[in-house]
Amino acid sequence: MARITASVYTSHVPAIGASLDLGKTQEPYWQPLFKGYDFSKQWEQENKPDVVFLVYNDHATAFSLDFIPTFAIGTAAEYMPADEGWGPRPVPMVKGHPELAAHIAQSVIQDDFDLTIVNKMDVDHGLTVPLSLMFGQPDEWPCPVIPFAVNVVQYPVPSGRRCFNLGKAIAKAVASYDEPLNVQIWGTGGMSHQLQGPRAGLINREWDNAFLDKLISDPEAAASIPHIDYVREAGSEGIELVMWLIARGAMSDVNGGSAKPTVKHRFYHVPASNTAVGHLILENN
Ligand code: DHB
Ligand code: FE
Repeated sequence: MARITASVYTSHVPAIGASLDLGKTQEPYWQPLFKGYDFSKQWEQENKPDVVFLVYNDHATAFSLDFIPTFAIGTAAEYMPADEGWGPRPVPMVKGHPELAAHIAQSVIQDDFDLTIVNKMDVDHGLTVPLSLMFGQPDEWPCPVIPFAVNVVQYPVPSGRRCFNLGKAIAKAVASYDEPLNVQIWGTGGMSHQLQGPRAGLINREWDNAFLDKLISDPEAAASIPHIDYVREAGSEGIELVMWLIARGAMSDVNGGSAKPTVKHRFYHVPASNTAVGHLILENN
């Protein structure tokens, strides 16, 4: 039986990818940001997953306004890094896990979550930047990845509550997979940021840190935050944080287990480009 061993939460920012790809990580602006991920890269070495289920958002790269899936699961064998306007990032191609992805799709759709099945797509910074932050710059990514794309770009977006419940359905699906795989689930995007309009540049440290506290200790309360609060408090792009609730909803303490997860790592840093970067590693007990 497959098992979700841990959840990882991290922001994504295109400039973080550019900093890595252009060899600028030791510049004074970037050094404190990457320092926050030293522990994480070491932890990934010591707790190597067999598969990462990576919840992220596409930024009108693979999808567009032509069609807008709320939830889309990647069932392909491989995914190429997308060209977002300055050429694809020089990172390895992403290998998928079609068997586990198909199993999760079957289970979760039968559990009443309508997923779009994606057999071919390129993956943008929403997926590749978290991989770089957690795994560094290897020649190949250390394990297969199942991309799970959530619409947080074009309204209406899914509620935090629905994301949380979807995480529970994903946990159930993983637990019923008949192979002893160590699966990590990652929730990515956020924290506070707004890229457009009169409030562009908005950062809300207090709200972000309260969100981290809630996500760790009172995930039910975090799942109850209405979408308008994300936008008002964390900016228009702060809504990306609903994706973290999918990962949190897949942890054992909210799926019948009594033990709370262990907080292995917590990090918060402002700024990275226009974004407040938050990061957590929670281990299942
Ligand atoms: C930035 C952050 C994002 O989440 C994104 O998708 C694009 C840009 C930024 O801070 O520059
Ligand atoms: Fe984004």
